[in-house]
Amino acid sequence: MRTLYYYCAPEVTATRRAEFAQLIAAAQDAVQAAASAQEAAPLAGAWQLVAVSDYDALIKATTLRAKGKTVTGLALEPEDVLLELTPPMAGVGLRLGSLANFKPLVIDFEQVAVRQRLLRGGRQKEAVARAVMAGLPDGALVFDATAGLGRESMILAHAGAQVLSFERQLPIWCILHDGLLRAGRSRFYPFTVPTLHPLGTIKDYRGAARPEVIYYDPMFPERSGSAQVKKDMHIFQEVIGADTDNEDFLRAALTLATRRVVVKRPDYAPPLSYPGIELAYSVDGGQCRFDCFQVD
Ligand SMILES: C[S@@+](CC[C@H](N)C(=O)[O-])C[C@H]1O[C@@H](n2cnc3c(N)ncnc32)[C@H](O)[C@@H]1O
Repeated sequence: MRTLYYYCAPEVTATRRAEFAQLIAAAQDAVQAAASAQEAAPLAGAWQLVAVSDYDALIKATTLRAKGKTVTGLALEPEDVLLELTPPMAGVGLRLGSLANFKPLVIDFEQVAVRQRLLRGGRQKEAVARAVMAGLPDGALVFDATAGLGRESMILAHAGAQVLSFERQLPIWCILHDGLLRAGRSRFYPFTVPTLHPLGTIKDYRGAARPEVIYYDPMFPERSGSAQVKKDMHIFQEVIGADTDNEDFLRAALTLATRRVVVKRPDYAPPLSYPGIELAYSVDGGQCRFDCFQVD
């Protein structure tokens, strides 16, 4: 079982402290729900949540351990994570035990570079928006089945979709929850930001309304010899690994969507191909491709 430690610094405002407590309560609920569900093992049920009292000692011991030193006090195991709300960081940060000396990964849609890219986009400029939104009216229901750091969920919301986002990895779900919460009250985003579904996958969806399009962007195995990814992406990739259940989720998505399923693939990878499922067309995204599968 992996441990998710959490810590909120004393100087954090009462409002943010309460939001952090709600986030931890939601994570705890998800862990319990997953523990009692049959498919719990590889998902949220494999986590336990533990509050941190001496943050400085934990960081020090974990950093020393990451350098190969022997430590006596509490330290994160390589696979453990720490969720922290420690100003001046903009939001909830995520550290991974094996990369504890890295800057925590935070989802901050208010960062200048992030919001410039998001707001520059729109239906025509962003290939993902062209692929997903083609023929859809404003306000169409779109599921982002693989929300990750939420960037494409935000691009689709900016392009006019009503987006429901899904994420199944607990630490990523937690930082995305916090990132979208802050984006939702940001003056930079005068549109409805994506709604985050409780931790899980599109198979957990119990709503009555069906999405017109489902967007699916699973983690693709790194090409050997590929350039070193940016440090924050490194934490992201280490927490998730590769998503290997593509067929299962493509089939589930094709059953749930009413128009089409759009799958993102690196430009060098062939389209997903399974018996009875045919690619209709692709939209070029430069270094990636958006493969579109029509619903029968
Ligand atoms: C390549 S990343 C997506 C990046 C995202 N498009 C963005 O803009 O940041 C894939 C993410 O989807 C999650 N994921 C993969 N398969 C999933 C599934 N079947 N259901 C829910 N989440 C899934 C992974 O945990 C990972 O966070």
